[in-house]
Amino acid sequence: MSGATRGLCRSDTVRALASVGPGGCQLSYHMLVYGSFCNRGAGVSHLARLFTPMAIGRMQIQNRIMMPGMSAGMMLDRDAQATPEMIAYYVERAKTRPGLMAIGASAVVPASAPRNMPLALDHDRHIPSLKKLVDAVHQYDTKFGIQLFDGGVQTGDRVQLSPSGVPAMAAAVFDSRASPVVKTLTVDEIGQVVRDFAAAARRCQTAGFDFVEIHAGHGYLISAFLTPYFNRRTDQYGGCLENRGRFLIEIFRAVKSAVGHALAVGVKINGDDFMVKDGWTLADTCILAPTLEAQGADYLSITAGVMGGTRLTVPPLYEKQGCFADLAEAVKKAVSIPVATIGRIKNPVMANDLLEQGKADIICMGRAMIADSEIVDKSRRGELDDIRLCLGECRGCIDHEMRSIKRGSPGQVSCVVNPRMQRESVCIDIEGSSKDNPKKILVVGAGLAGLEAARRTAFSGHRVTLCESRSWIGGQIRFAAMIPGRQEIGDMLPWYARQLAKHGVQVRLDTTVDAAMLEKLAPDVVFVATGSVPQVPQNMLDGVAHSENINMLMIDDLLEQNIEPGENILVVGGDQIGMQAADYLSEGGRKVCVAEAHGHFAQKLAANDRWYLVGRTIEKKVRRFKDVRNIVIGTDDSVSVVTDKGSEILPDIDTIVFASERRSNRSVAELAKARGLETYIVGDASDVVSEDSGTIFTNIAQAYDIARRI
Ligand SMILES: Cc1cc2nc3c(=O)[nH]c(=O)nc-3n(C[C@H](O)[C@H](O)[C@H](O)COP(=O)(O)O)c2cc1C
Ligand code: SF4
Repeated sequence: MSGATRGLCRSDTVRALASVGPGGCQLSYHMLVYGSFCNRGAGVSHLARLFTPMAIGRMQIQNRIMMPGMSAGMMLDRDAQATPEMIAYYVERAKTRPGLMAIGASAVVPASAPRNMPLALDHDRHIPSLKKLVDAVHQYDTKFGIQLFDGGVQTGDRVQLSPSGVPAMAAAVFDSRASPVVKTLTVDEIGQVVRDFAAAARRCQTAGFDFVEIHAGHGYLISAFLTPYFNRRTDQYGGCLENRGRFLIEIFRAVKSAVGHALAVGVKINGDDFMVKDGWTLADTCILAPTLEAQGADYLSITAGVMGGTRLTVPPLYEKQGCFADLAEAVKKAVSIPVATIGRIKNPVMANDLLEQGKADIICMGRAMIADSEIVDKSRRGELDDIRLCLGECRGCIDHEMRSIKRGSPGQVSCVVNPRMQRESVCIDIEGSSKDNPKKILVVGAGLAGLEAARRTAFSGHRVTLCESRSWIGGQIRFAAMIPGRQEIGDMLPWYARQLAKHGVQVRLDTTVDAAMLEKLAPDVVFVATGSVPQVPQNMLDGVAHSENINMLMIDDLLEQNIEPGENILVVGGDQIGMQAADYLSEGGRKVCVAEAHGHFAQKLAANDRWYLVGRTIEKKVRRFKDVRNIVIGTDDSVSVVTDKGSEILPDIDTIVFASERRSNRSVAELAKARGLETYIVGDASDVVSEDSGTIFTNIAQAYDIARRI
């Protein structure tokens, strides 16, 4: 048995996982990527370092896990103040007692126009709502802090502060409609911003926080002063490193003198901007870090990336786990105060190892705590297999937030795997709530929507049977995990397998549901989660019919049957599936073209993931055609791509892979409805056409929302 399945309960479900999956290969799950939770043993004794208390300045923390500042959970009112929903988000995580947790970037400078994001620290009137939040979190044994920041040119503000008037490298990310005024700060105005930071810190002290964190990373205002590309000043705030660091040091001193020893003061700073040119580098950080220590910094949190850089602040699954730990390790050698590392740390065993290896003193787990609000408690109790792992597929969190900012309704953060995210006060999940009045539930199809429907209904105490026509669970997610760099997508499956086993779901593999089966099982409720299949676009049917020498493949068949394609391939469809297919097919030097009907590629993917995926295909010389109106297959098997600009023959195409349109597969729903059964269609079976359809994010959330109401 592989490391992926060791330690899981033996059940039909586990048999499904252990079985050889599509393409004849076994999935490379997270556990295989980093090493199994199970075979490393479980419990605090094996995570001793992670759960060892320590001091940060005068602040004692009971373990080394930090929930870092994130704009997640920021459900704010119209005056940018904390709401009861925000309190619920933080309390849920505080209950599990991470060593420390921080509220994300909060604005210290008064806004140039009314705004409801980010959280405001610019006036005393915000103190009472902050105090309520702090008091609620302080019911639990965790240290609570908040980030002080100004977003500079990386905000949706009309007037953006900057060192030298240089706009953001990816300004359109914030609001394609806005044309902000980028204001260069005068020396007097710099002094005012410094005082704003100090005043905000004082308010945080009054509200009862344990620490504040000055945000000097990610391309925001302080970071822009540090970075030569953004800071082109010739006065005492520009030029040499000492001058560029002056703004941060002045802010630090002002904050420190405002709060004295009442609060710990930390700094979150980039270990590297990862810019092609004129960025802030690791060498710079290692020079500035001792100065911050000398000024009295209680800890440093080493992050990375600016918008438009080559590696991203919120790194997707294409980056390795613990991707920025080397930066922290280097800084740690330059100072003696605690150093935190951040970036794709989702596995407590890895977190513990990073501490053991001396790479950091504190481990930040951001998205890991979004994906599973109980990860700290589960780690403490040794229930590692029960941790719902962050997939590093950012469509739910940072991407959802960015899309919401663009739409003009900022603050919407969710999670691909955790549909309760930011709905903690609304979605109250109580295990066994229906056990005294259970229903017989039949779920047809064990893709993610089916797995979630089965899990959530069984969690309530219903009696659930899950039927799957294949000999394994996971549906398309198994295919998705075969794409280069995306194996971690499969991390969901061991977790679902375990949850189904735990909640007593009866899993029937190799089982097709027909009328006779419905009769036999006689369910009260049927979930139809039978997914979708790819299809040939209508306008290509003729060409496909007469072609004799071109191998025509459906993307699902290609992956499931591990079909060997030719050497010169056209992928029809350049959204998330088509682009991933192109990445998969172009491995090993095959020539690949992608034809997409719309003006953009991989639109359904999170922008962060897309950034890396498109980069990979460019590196492998995949040719991308957008706004494709037609693909013509001539009688001589020539293949032409037609756009508004004209037609181009793609020479020697030997394989066409269809990865664009899909058709929902829901015939079982008709059978169930004909029998008068309460029937719900979920996942791809319900919709593959609308903008957000066909994503893990939508499919899990939809199944969860219906299942929790049964
Ligand atoms: C939805 C979301 C919002 C974030 N907001 C902030 C923020 O307000 N301040 C900040 O310093 N970092 C923010 N980050 C970045 C995280 O703190 C962290 O640096 C990054 O996600 C990498 O860590 P992780 O892999 O543990 O999530 C945010 C990340 C996410 C996913
Ligand atoms: S949306 Fe994706 S990347 Fe973000 S926390 Fe959830 S699983 Fe992780």
